[in-house]
Amino acid sequence: MRIVTTTEELREAIRDSSANTVGFVPTMGYLHSGHTTLFDHARKQNDLVVASIFVNPTQFGPNEDFEVYPRDPEGDAAKCRAHGVRLLFMPSVAEVYPDGHATTVTVDHLTTELCGRFRPGHFAGVATVVAKLFCMVGSQRAYFGEKDFQQLAVIRRMARDLNIPTRVIGIPTIREDDGLARSSRNVYLSDEERAVALSLATALRATRAAHRAGERSASALCDLLAAELTRHPTVALQYAELADPESLKLLRGTTLEAGQGARAIIALQLGRTRLIDNAAIDHDDPSFLTTRLGA
Ligand code: PAF
Repeated sequence: MRIVTTTEELREAIRDSSANTVGFVPTMGYLHSGHTTLFDHARKQNDLVVASIFVNPTQFGPNEDFEVYPRDPEGDAAKCRAHGVRLLFMPSVAEVYPDGHATTVTVDHLTTELCGRFRPGHFAGVATVVAKLFCMVGSQRAYFGEKDFQQLAVIRRMARDLNIPTRVIGIPTIREDDGLARSSRNVYLSDEERAVALSLATALRATRAAHRAGERSASALCDLLAAELTRHPTVALQYAELADPESLKLLRGTTLEAGQGARAIIALQLGRTRLIDNAAIDHDDPSFLTTRLGA
């Protein structure tokens, strides 16, 4: 595996590889099995796997954890190597945002609700850096986890709207055996918080079960989701919503129709850690089927 830090070296290495197909996995590092699963998918579908590690300052708000975001460059490089990444791009902030940088990519509509309400500017930071990385790498495919479902929808729309020929592929969330979604930020959780954090998966499972049992009122399903989360006094719920999986339009107040497609999406603050999770409501969600507790 080769590690490169400049766009020039990156492009040269991709050209020299003479790969017909390139699969790209952008990350912010502190890699876990959620990321290595993306590498494995990329390796199966492409001649060359390129990963990037860049903790993108523009997607963090002023009171967020940019400075203390967990970092482990050596451990990350070893994980990339073990999972078939052949080119690892680790640019500096100046390489990605050179002096005088003046262009921001904003995606309307999909970014106003859900996390957009609580993290102003976050999705513009994500869309901008991912658009730039797509242009730098020029891969045929790029892989993202479904855990950040709004991010995935925003990136899909951005690539489509800007005619970027990279196919955006979403991969089901990887969970611990007890259902907790893997996240680099799980390291912030104390043992007590880790136990309470299970309520995200429990709430999603309960909502899926209610839908399976015949509940079709989106508002009732959202209320059930919220009730499961707020039974823990330490949880500060940000939102618990059902949304259209593509447009992210909120479904509260509507009746779900057969085959319509609905995603339950939640975010909460637990101590100093912000946690998000989501699940398909109207069909089997592979991320739950692979955990020990199922459903
Ligand atoms: O999901 C992430 O790790 C980041 O938001 C991404 C997509 C790498 C952009 O910085």
